[in-house]
Formats: sequence, C-alpha cells, structure tokens
Amino acid sequence: MTGSHLLGSGSALPSRVVTNAELAAQIDTSDEWIVERTGIRQRYIASDGETTASLAIAASRKALDDAGIAASDIDLIVLATATPDNTFPATATKVQNALGCNGCVAFDVAAVCSGFLYALTTADSLLKTGTGTRALVIGAETFSRILDWEDRTTCVLFGDGAGAVVLEAPREDDRVGADAPGVLASRLHADGANHDLLYVDGGPSTTQTVGHLRMKGREVFRHAVVNLSNVLNEVIEDAGISASDIDWVVPHQANARILDATAKKLGIAPEKVIVTVDQHANTSAASVPLAYDVARRDGRIKSGDLVMFEAMGGGFTWGASLVRI
Ligand code: UT7
Repeated sequence: MTGSHLLGSGSALPSRVVTNAELAAQIDTSDEWIVERTGIRQRYIASDGETTASLAIAASRKALDDAGIAASDIDLIVLATATPDNTFPATATKVQNALGCNGCVAFDVAAVCSGFLYALTTADSLLKTGTGTRALVIGAETFSRILDWEDRTTCVLFGDGAGAVVLEAPREDDRVGADAPGVLASRLHADGANHDLLYVDGGPSTTQTVGHLRMKGREVFRHAVVNLSNVLNEVIEDAGISASDIDWVVPHQANARILDATAKKLGIAPEKVIVTVDQHANTSAASVPLAYDVARRDGRIKSGDLVMFEAMGGGFTWGASLVRI
C-alpha cells in the first residue's frame, strides 16, 4: 500500500532568544563548552504568554497555509509533546478549537524526542485505514518549563518551539515503489529498561508535581548513535533503497556530534544532513518538523526529494520514516 502525502509544513518559535553567553552569565558554563560539545549557539525560550498550544497553533496555521487547505478540511490532529499545557485534556484539542475544526479526531502522543515520528506514523496509519483524508501532525514543546535551571548538564541543551505538517491519505492512482510520493516506510521502537537515563522526576501520579528533566547525557549519547543507525538501516531495507538514494536526512536535533556520528555510520554525506541545533537547541518533539520546515522554506528540500526523518529520546523511544516529498 502507498503512504500518505506530505502536503505542507509550518513552524513557530518563541520571540525570546537566549544565547550561550547569557546562560554563562547565570550558571557555571561557557559558550566554548556548549558549542564544542553540542553545536548549540542559542535557543528560543517561551515567555509567560507563550505555551505549547500557542506555538502549536501558530505552526499549524502556517502549515495549513503552505498546504493550501482550510482548517475545516482537517479530519485528524495528532500532537506530539512531553510538555502539554495541562495534564489533560490533550493539547491537540486546544489546537483544534483555536483552528475551528471542532469535531475531528484530536489527541496527543507522548514519546518525548521521538514524538514526531510516533505522531507521523500513527497519522499515516489512521489515514490509510480510513479515519479521514487529511491530518495535522504537530510536534510542540516548552521544555524550558521542565528544566532545572541550576543543572548545567541539562539546562543549556534545550529550547522551545513547534513544527507541523499536513498529511493527506494516499490516492488510488499513486505510483507504487520507491518513486511513489508520500511516506514509504516507517519503524518505531521503545525500550523501557533505560528509563533512568532520561526522565522527568515528577508527575501527577507519583509526586503530584510537574518535575524536572534528568539526564545521564554520556550514556544517552552512546545509545542514540547505535539505536539511530539500526533503525535507519531497517527503514532503508524496508523501502528497498540504498543510503546513497537519500537526498536529505532531517534528524532530531540533540547534539551536532550525534548527527555527525550517525551520518558517518550510514555513509551519508554531512551536507545532506539538515542541522538547526545551533539555532534552536534540542526542542524535543518539535525539532524534526522545525528543521524540515526551515529546509523546505530556504529551498533545500524540494518536491520529489527523498527525505529521512529520524529521532531518539526518553523512554527510550526511537524511530525513522522515509518520505518522498
Ligand atoms: O533528546 C534526547 C536525546 N538526548 C541526547 O541525545 C543527549 C545526548 N548527550 C549529549 O549530547 C552529551 O552527552 C552532552 C552534551 C549532554 C554532554 O557532553 P559530554 O561530552 O558527554 O560531556 P560529559 O557529560 O561527559 O561531561 C564532561 C564534563 C564534565 O566535567 P568533568 O566531570 O569531566 O570534570 C561535566 O561536569 O563537562 C562538564 N559539564 C559542563 N561544563 C561546562 C557538563 N555540562 C557542562 C556545562 N558547561 N554546561
């Protein structure tokens, strides 16, 4: 069966930029350390009035515009986030109400940094099985709200933002095979054994607080390169292509060194990897659609290109999707 088509994209960032130098003025870190170890130069941080929902709504409006469709054409909203506006209801329902497509299916998925891959794969499956014709798939986060701003090992790494894409169900006359438009192959994984390497130390059912992000960065790094290389090879095999056929890799933006190491393992040229971690830092579920939107709007990713999306995050969760734009 052919896959859902990616019609358009949009993204949104908070208005406030925070540079490494600003952080270095508050905690024991330096621009040099952050750039050398992560590639991050700045991040966007939400102000009081900016929330996961408000960023998601702004990104979604741009994606609808780009796709040339009205909100009333949307049958399904899948929003990936680990920082919802409220514990419930789903942030997706806030987006739905703001856009005015009330009545359609709307829910959140929680897969942290891999959230966009989980949301994309879920939406693609639901569209293929008749839940509707068009979906908004969103990754949106305000990780600044769950950071321990005194923990230099984590607070310098993350930022806030949102990205969204419009997906349309496959058509009967779609070509079949690696030249077909749309989602060609996807794989998702999770392994709960590594919970303690990357988690939030709070929640409604345990502490009745929101909690703060905790991470053993070096361990996560090691798992990330192995898991991402494996899942990328699985998707390449499923789609019946070779790594050299890929025009662009749009990876989760956690660390420039992870992007380099993963591309090298697969034999993909670094120029084919979209990098926004320097500008956005790690925006968790938002990072893949944000990076995709940047590269589409600056003209690098074009219609007909073969694009690999990939991410790994807390859980652990990881996944990849190959899409012909
Ligand atoms: O999005 C989900 C997936 N997340 C990731 O993929 C993150 C993966 N991990 C990483 O990106 C990297 O492991 C980090 C960027 C988090 C850390 O880089 P690292 O090269 O693994 O550094 P490290 O944790 O081994 O720390 C090295 C040193 C330590 O000092 P000592 O013990 O060697 O004296 C840290 O205390 O760097 C120190 N350090 C810092 N120094 C200045 C840690 N954070 C900072 C900081 N500023 N912000």
